[in-house]
Amino acid sequence: MVFVLSVVCFTGLTMSLATLLVIAARVLVNYGTCQLDINAGEKPLEVQGGQTLLAALYANEIFIPSACGGKGSCGHCKITVTAGGGPVLPTELSYLTRGEIRSHVRLACQVKIRENIFVKIPSDLLNVRMFDATIESATPLTHDIKGIRMRLDTPAEIVQRPGQYVQVQAPSPDGPVFRAYSISSPAYDRNAVELVVRLVPGGLGSTYLHTIRPGDRVNFTGPYGEFHLNEDPAVEIVCVGGGCGMAPMRNIIYTLYDRWPERTCWLFFGCRTKQDVFYLEQFQDLAQTHPHLHVIYALSEQDGENWSGETGFIHLSVDKYLESGVARQAFLCGPPPMIDAVTQVLTAKGLRPEDIFYDKF
Ligand SMILES: Cc1cc2nc3c(=O)[nH]c(=O)nc-3n(C[C@H](O)[C@H](O)[C@H](O)COP(=O)(O)OP(=O)(O)OC[C@H]3O[C@@H](n4cnc5c(N)ncnc54)[C@H](O)[C@@H]3O)c2cc1C
Ligand code: FES
Repeated sequence: MVFVLSVVCFTGLTMSLATLLVIAARVLVNYGTCQLDINAGEKPLEVQGGQTLLAALYANEIFIPSACGGKGSCGHCKITVTAGGGPVLPTELSYLTRGEIRSHVRLACQVKIRENIFVKIPSDLLNVRMFDATIESATPLTHDIKGIRMRLDTPAEIVQRPGQYVQVQAPSPDGPVFRAYSISSPAYDRNAVELVVRLVPGGLGSTYLHTIRPGDRVNFTGPYGEFHLNEDPAVEIVCVGGGCGMAPMRNIIYTLYDRWPERTCWLFFGCRTKQDVFYLEQFQDLAQTHPHLHVIYALSEQDGENWSGETGFIHLSVDKYLESGVARQAFLCGPPPMIDAVTQVLTAKGLRPEDIFYDKF
């Protein structure tokens, strides 16, 4: 009897304490309504305190890139917080350079709104929209890569630049997640967005995009990315990609030849074997119409017959074909070791760091 009474008393006491803690959290840690000022009065908002800056912006349809869904593990959600963000947290340090910390750059998903807060957001990001779209086609390009075309419903048009990407919303057991995919369709194709998606075994976003079918509805935000094509037609464009790094190259090349039919462009594309090759015939056809387009594919694991292209790693082809001392802008996209090797070659050929752009994935 005494034992039962003590258990009942102990449980009661624990539950009362827990209830008190919840009430205290609600009453004492209630930050109330806070002002969220964007670009010195350009877009003033009232938001509920206690939430993260990323969540508050998202609720107001301001979509900051966030590949990890706000877990602090992708480093994509950087914005400038000029006041009211509190001190930089240890979770942010590995994603911020010293210069960024000095310039008040923060990870929006790690900043909790506790008082009025003042932020700077580039106009490009303020123009990012949430799109509803319908899958028009999902075509296997290789054994593990699909080309996906999404017809835009609302809004019905997108204004994008080559090199930009969208963030597709995919379902997961813990709620929706967003994954970044470069836009492979040219900028003049305003009513659709095409992607080139490699299947990552067990991956949430890529598995979702590999299982959707024509007629399915999808959501994505975008466009994101700061790459700008050099407007001087005398400057040659160099695109170097591998695997699903083809997506931005395709956008760059078709957009480029729509605008400057005579411009010189080099496409270097690295594949492991012949079964990883795709879009080669399309580019060869384009090069028939635009003779200043040079299309060079290389196989790193040559499988012998019926291959008249290059062999070896793609940076060796870049080294072989490009002369030094020519004005060029380069866009690289693919796995980090490829980007590092190609950057070394391009630097040795005289390209300045500011003329070499890359997306590592
Ligand atoms: C700016 C940008 C543009 C991108 N563009 C493209 C694109 O055009 N096409 C494309 O296919 N992808 C692209 N990616 C990569 C894409 O965003 C996803 O990271 C990728 O599809 C894996 O996501 P997931 O949800 O399928 O896997 P997750 O669920 O995130 O990961 C599942 C598991 O796979 C591992 N993993 C994650 N990514 C890879 C990978 N790339 N290779 C091997 N293992 C991995 C993870 O560590 C984890 O263990 C881009 C990324 C960025 C940042
Ligand atoms: S959303 Fe990934 S670090 Fe903030």
